[in-house]
Amino acid sequence: MNGSGPQTKVEDLDRAEAVAEVSRLTLLLKKANIAYHQQDAPQITDAEYDLAKRRLAAIEVHFPDMEQDDSPTSQVGAAPREGFGKVRHAVKMLSLGNAFDDADVVDFDKRIRAFLGMTDSALLGYTAEPKIDGLSLSLRYEQGKLVLAATRGDGETGENVTQNALTLADIPTKLTGAPDILEVRGEVFMGHADFAELNKKQMAKGEKPFANPRNGAAGSMRQLDASVTAARPLKFFAYAWGEISSEISDTQIGAIARLAELGFQTNPLTKACESVTDMLGHYGKIEASRADLGYDIDGVVYKVNDLALQARLGFRSTTPRWAIAHKFPAETAWTRLEAIDIQVGRTGALSPVARLTPVTVGGVVVSNATLHNEDYIAGLDNKGEVIRGGPDSPVDIREGDLVQVYRAGDVIPKIRDVDLTKRPENARPYEFRTTCPECGSDAIREDGDAVRRCSGGIICPAQAIEKLRHFVSRGAFDIEGLGARQVEAFYQKDWIKTPADIFSLEKDHGDEIRRLDGWGEKSALNLFAAINARRDISLARVIFALGIRHVGASSASLLARSYGSWEAFEEAISKSEIGTGAEWENLVAIDGVGAVMAASLVAAFHQKSEREAIDRLVKALTNVEDAKAVASTSPIAGKIVVFTGTLERMTRAEAKARAEAMGAKVAGSVSKKTDLVVAGPGAGSKARKAAELGVEVIDEDGWFELASEAAGP
Ligand code: IVH
Repeated sequence: MNGSGPQTKVEDLDRAEAVAEVSRLTLLLKKANIAYHQQDAPQITDAEYDLAKRRLAAIEVHFPDMEQDDSPTSQVGAAPREGFGKVRHAVKMLSLGNAFDDADVVDFDKRIRAFLGMTDSALLGYTAEPKIDGLSLSLRYEQGKLVLAATRGDGETGENVTQNALTLADIPTKLTGAPDILEVRGEVFMGHADFAELNKKQMAKGEKPFANPRNGAAGSMRQLDASVTAARPLKFFAYAWGEISSEISDTQIGAIARLAELGFQTNPLTKACESVTDMLGHYGKIEASRADLGYDIDGVVYKVNDLALQARLGFRSTTPRWAIAHKFPAETAWTRLEAIDIQVGRTGALSPVARLTPVTVGGVVVSNATLHNEDYIAGLDNKGEVIRGGPDSPVDIREGDLVQVYRAGDVIPKIRDVDLTKRPENARPYEFRTTCPECGSDAIREDGDAVRRCSGGIICPAQAIEKLRHFVSRGAFDIEGLGARQVEAFYQKDWIKTPADIFSLEKDHGDEIRRLDGWGEKSALNLFAAINARRDISLARVIFALGIRHVGASSASLLARSYGSWEAFEEAISKSEIGTGAEWENLVAIDGVGAVMAASLVAAFHQKSEREAIDRLVKALTNVEDAKAVASTSPIAGKIVVFTGTLERMTRAEAKARAEAMGAKVAGSVSKKTDLVVAGPGAGSKARKAAELGVEVIDEDGWFELASEAAGP
């Protein structure tokens, strides 16, 4: 490394040598940082950089007094060349469920009461606050010092943007009186005036303006050169927390006040509410002040105020039960529908897409909208009921129509209405094709299915590509450097036809890739390293990545937790026959797996080409990590539990959530496989069956003890 010659082992260094090494390595790393971040002209390889950093860290461990305050080792994960370092969140960063009208908010309150076993009249407080339209950030403080800032990413892993966060005036770098570990979460955003000013500057420099303040904020945070971020007018509101070493309050409103005392900006429109009426009243107030706030908000967030109740309510797979976002009504605009195109998805679904004359809807230019399926175009829902027009005269959508487009949140724009007075005379009802536009195979619509599907399977290039795109997507294999565009390009070259081909890319096409335009030795090596790194992967990701219809990310996690290992999962699904037999019964007994999902899984494992693709993939992997039961120390981790009868001390829903959090599977019926039955008063046939089968049965008090024991001190 830069002429340093053979290196003495760190343990063998004497003090004088160590001092010299510390200064040499520090200089080397600092220069490398500047060359990389500020001059975009790296002078040493990533491997040399890592080696130097590890050696410096090792010396600091041996000679702790030599650690300098600004040591390059304390810059948590300087961004690697391809972008930012990845950070695994200590506590997942969740998203929020949505409410679109008052009735949804009433339901939210009802669901919570039902879960907690509270009556309609019992006092239950909430907070209400604006939902900031920016990008969420997690700030980790250790001993009062900001040590890490990370974006949300996929909720489990985000990007390390510490250097950028350090440049925001609203983000304190030091806290006094904070818990030893405190992760503060909130939203980075840009005000309207600052946004307009920034875009003016962008245009003056001949650069592309940002579409809206949220993109401006996100683009500014994701700068490899932190000095660019420093020059951008970014703000931060704190509204939540992740890992904490000690409680900061016993209420949500108290916790927010505590964050404000610690020096964070918190939103002044945050209010404690005593009832749903109060919450909706505050929603109205926030909505009325929306235009004057000077920054974008897209709704109001309600959270249960009592933190002990929040803890009892817990989480679904990606959202808390104790909070919801009440969205403002979607923004709309009228524009011309120029054409209807048909796209073929990963499961072969023919999806109609409206190509629109571009129009701005809520600050974003929209040129496509989804048309769902052929019934939707005809003005009917999946039960044949009219969704547009009068009961006997559905209004269809035609090419050439003037249509009203709306956008709610980040979802794909949709079409709400058609202006029949502006319909061109030559407009004709849309005829949905019955063959696949990509491979010409028949496109079949089965009874009871709203969607027409291509029957070509993986011979259909559109399905093959979509499957590959899904395979490399964020929740699936998420291979750095192999995005949707890249797999598609490799597919076109015939280098990747099914996922397993990705893992033989280096062997079969390594040299060709190195010679591709825009590629070189280094980028090819990085790609192969990223691919190899994914040979060791979690079971849930593998199941999700298979792209089987009806098996989304949270179902994949559920299946992974239920079967534990690839071998167990594979054996169970292979042995299952749709609708019959013990393996099938076990599959559908998993709470959350319905017959439709189960049938789709079993069909995929029995379809020859699909099965071959799965087997080849699994052979290419070195380790499919077993799914850890959430709490492996809990007495019911990995066990199958059935609740029956009335529970009096917690609702059935809470008991089920609690058991799942303790790593158990909750089943609806008792079988030989059941490990434990919790029988409340009135338990009938299930308790009898358990007794017959010799399954352990406990009463509610026994369960309560078990559940509180596992909750720990
Ligand atoms: S609370 C566990 N409060 O909305 C709950 N989120 O759609 C954590 N957001 O990812 C979120 N304003 O980025 C919360 N006042 C607010 C918010 C807020 C904006 C964002 C946040 C979250 C997204 C969910």
